[in-house]
Amino acid sequence: MDKMLPKVRKAVFPAAGLGTRFLPATKAQPKEMLPLVDKPLIQYGVEEAIHSGIQNIIIITGRGKTAIEDHFDVSFEMEHLLESRNKKDLLNTIRSISDMINVAYVRQKEAMGLGHAVLRARELIGPEPFGVVLSDDVIDAEVPCMRQLLDIYEFYGASVVALMEVPKDVISSYGVVDAEPIAHNGARDRLFRICNMVEKPRPDEAPSNLAIIGRYVLTPEIFDSIESIEPGSGGELQLTDALKHLLRSRPIYGLRFEGARYDAGDKLGFLKATVEFALKRYDLGEEFRQYLSTLKL
Ligand code: UTP
Repeated sequence: MDKMLPKVRKAVFPAAGLGTRFLPATKAQPKEMLPLVDKPLIQYGVEEAIHSGIQNIIIITGRGKTAIEDHFDVSFEMEHLLESRNKKDLLNTIRSISDMINVAYVRQKEAMGLGHAVLRARELIGPEPFGVVLSDDVIDAEVPCMRQLLDIYEFYGASVVALMEVPKDVISSYGVVDAEPIAHNGARDRLFRICNMVEKPRPDEAPSNLAIIGRYVLTPEIFDSIESIEPGSGGELQLTDALKHLLRSRPIYGLRFEGARYDAGDKLGFLKATVEFALKRYDLGEEFRQYLSTLKL
């Protein structure tokens, strides 16, 4: 790593969206607190950041999101109860996560888009590169996805977005890139230099089948870009539009990361993730597998 290159120390977790795809569960409860097996979505994202070497977490919250703050706080009553019942494992489980991070919260008063949410973190980030994690994109990977992006940032010193191939019939749900492959680590089909990007294109107008998913490493110039764009798709300030603006003055890379991604903000994606994660659990997997095999599908 270039000695002069600033290190990524902070990650922003936008969690102020309305979660309309998951109503009614998300009417009074944040989508980020929906549990996959027994852990809220946002905790998977926070653990990914920690395992990638980032301990400073900035969560962008909105109305009705206090459960997120409580989750990462110390729960004296719960700890006392577990201690008195001698439940050491559970005690360690609930303690370890809040011990490992420094967490700050910023409010987004109105859900005016992902770009707008990220801009709320400007003061806390300052002139540093930072990660962005959308915790409803849950990624199961040997090397954490954020770590894979950081490796590219540390090599090229530029912003990096996570990319995934998606089928044509669903491409218009994503930001899509026009990109040129570049050789990296002996492969030519993983890393791309981005030439252009389009938010939610019609299938016949999509420049490729490579979609941006919820992991980014951004250099601080992105804040000026967010400030200079107009609301786009859905009347919201889109991060993709800000990245497109940034492309005029800086290179941006895209990494087709290694691992499986689940869109847990969507009901079917959430169910798939639940089944896959439950099957992988050492304490539940075997029994769950046996149960599934009894279903007449
Ligand atoms: P989504 O596109 O999943 O939107 O946002 P959403 O509103 O949360 O959910 P649906 O589509 O209505 O079901 C992607 C990420 O950006 C955050 C969300 O919390 C989610 O993590 N976000 C989005 C904000 O923080 N603020 C916004 O104004 C919009």
